[in-house]
Amino acid sequence: MTEAIKIINISKTYHQRKANDVVALGDIYLSIEEGSFFGLIGPNGAGKSTLIKLITGLSCQDRGTISINGFDTIKQYQIARQMVGVSLQEHSFDPYLTVEEELYLTGGYFGKNKAYLSMKIPEIIKLFVLEDKRKTATDKLSGGMKRRLAIAKALIHEPKILILDEPTAGLDVQLRHELWEILEKLNKQGTTILLTTHYLEEVEHLCDEVAIIDRGKIIHTAKNHKVDLQENSKLEKLFLELVKNDQSDTL
Ligand SMILES: Nc1ncnc2c1ncn2[C@@H]1O[C@H](COP(=O)(O)OP(=O)(O)OP(=O)(O)O)[C@@H](O)[C@H]1O
Ligand SMILES: [Mg+2]
Repeated sequence: MTEAIKIINISKTYHQRKANDVVALGDIYLSIEEGSFFGLIGPNGAGKSTLIKLITGLSCQDRGTISINGFDTIKQYQIARQMVGVSLQEHSFDPYLTVEEELYLTGGYFGKNKAYLSMKIPEIIKLFVLEDKRKTATDKLSGGMKRRLAIAKALIHEPKILILDEPTAGLDVQLRHELWEILEKLNKQGTTILLTTHYLEEVEHLCDEVAIIDRGKIIHTAKNHKVDLQENSKLEKLFLELVKNDQSDTL
């Protein structure tokens, strides 16, 4: 088994000036196999986005190590970062740039040359149905369009690993299904995908492995047998039971 993402004994506490410290993650171990489609689910505030920020080197853990295809996210940040495309829950764009310019900027950040980008950008704009908005300033996009642009940016350098924090929040039904198709295709072509979502049917439909995180701890990991959307959600039942039991420990 080759591990695309390996997380060993990670802890992260946020220290705040005016409020109490928040232990966002404690003693996390997680292995995500190369080529897998991995779903990370958990209630609000469970630590999902924090974990994603640590994996992508946007924040630093207090303890433990994370490696991407064997490269340490802190000591070998540049190589590790190059292998990952990420769409964060709160995306930010330069409001003075158009959709197309924003994509050029991101491509440049990953060292892609103009010839590559002038081929890749129209392709990706088409894939995410943003042709009409090519010359539109990023701050003039609707919420769903911003989400699409954020995912497009994550894919611009054709990363081996794609990490998406709530990618379908705010997407209309048709686009959600189109995005699922795009992600399934990428995964079949070999891209490892880590996804967080509050839509459990999304995980049941797409993912082959799932982890449930609650209050900074992984409380369950399992293989997921992909199901049709029509079936009743077994994962939702399991999720509600596990989270309820976990929280009743201290509440
Ligand atoms: N920059 C920060 N400073 C202080 N506390 C933070 C910061 N970012 C997150 N937290 C806290 O860390 C905990 C985990 O937050 P995180 O954003 O990782 O949760 P999440 O699982 O992504 O939740 P959601 O489903 O709402 O997106 C929460 O208690 C949150 O308030
Ligand atoms: Mg989050």
